[in-house]
Amino acid sequence: MKIFITRKIPQPGLDLLKKECTIDLNPHDRVLTKDEIIKGIKGKDGLLCLLTDQIDKDVINAEPNLKMIASYAVGYDNIDIVTATNRGIPVSNTPDVLTETTAELAWTLLFSIARNIVEGDAFVREGKFKGWAPMLMLGQDVSHKTLGVVGAGRIGTAFALKSKGFEMNVLYSDERRNERIERDLGARQVALSTLLKDSDFVSLHIPLMSATHHLIDEKELRMMKKTAILINTARGPIIRETALIKALKEHWIFGAGLDVYEKEPEVSEELKSLKNVVLQPHTGSGTFETRTKMALMAAENMLIGLKGGIPPNCVNREVFLKKPTT
Ligand code: GLV
Ligand code: GLV
Repeated sequence: MKIFITRKIPQPGLDLLKKECTIDLNPHDRVLTKDEIIKGIKGKDGLLCLLTDQIDKDVINAEPNLKMIASYAVGYDNIDIVTATNRGIPVSNTPDVLTETTAELAWTLLFSIARNIVEGDAFVREGKFKGWAPMLMLGQDVSHKTLGVVGAGRIGTAFALKSKGFEMNVLYSDERRNERIERDLGARQVALSTLLKDSDFVSLHIPLMSATHHLIDEKELRMMKKTAILINTARGPIIRETALIKALKEHWIFGAGLDVYEKEPEVSEELKSLKNVVLQPHTGSGTFETRTKMALMAAENMLIGLKGGIPPNCVNREVFLKKPTT
């Protein structure tokens, strides 16, 4: 079995694959171009890719014998699932193992902006700290405030549950009810507009799809409190970035914490010039432990898929229902 891997992932995942497969690994420490990926998958049975790779129709159709796509990420908006499914190719992702880690980053961003951590750090380093002062860098309290969780899936749930120690009032918006956070936190399911109006902190935990593209636009930002903080550890295009920049500049909200960007890896100069936003380079799942678990999970899914089994984290299970029964 031959596999193409678009970028080096933690060694335990590579070792697991090497036991049963021949691997062809991107030798560079950079994202490959579409042409390089197309060349890479020629003659391969499996593709192990990242969220930074656009796995579109041309890529998927470049190798007629491609049998499995294992993505090293939970979000799979970068993969043309319809084409993969039509071709009968299972696609797997890496859910669960990164849930707590990503929820922790959302909290890190929330506190960083609520208490001006990044600005404060720079202030001290620049020698501007001349002593305690009554009005120096005042932030926002977190305890007993209202937390708004947009999308109460795995990560949204973990994020919400971590608010327990801060005794917050929790609101969530989702198509489905989440009995766990209702029971454990007294969380209330509300419409997005109510959540935006009533929350002190709004954190996005929804996948990117056509229905969530620019879900947070000028109208939504204007609904938020002047003291509110917006956190995005999901996908950049869920927020219309130009609207967010306007909101931050004109202080419609207190601040934002971002791990993802609309035109990633490009980050607008305007965003970088603002003090009321904390910017992180898409490291939601970025811990030693979690990245190793993701590598093993992607490798396990790959091996099962290549042998014709149902990968445990398959996102297009229709592939297995559709198999002709002649
Ligand atoms: C990270 O953004 C992921 O989807 O795993
Ligand atoms: C993603 O893994 C989610 O369900 O939140």
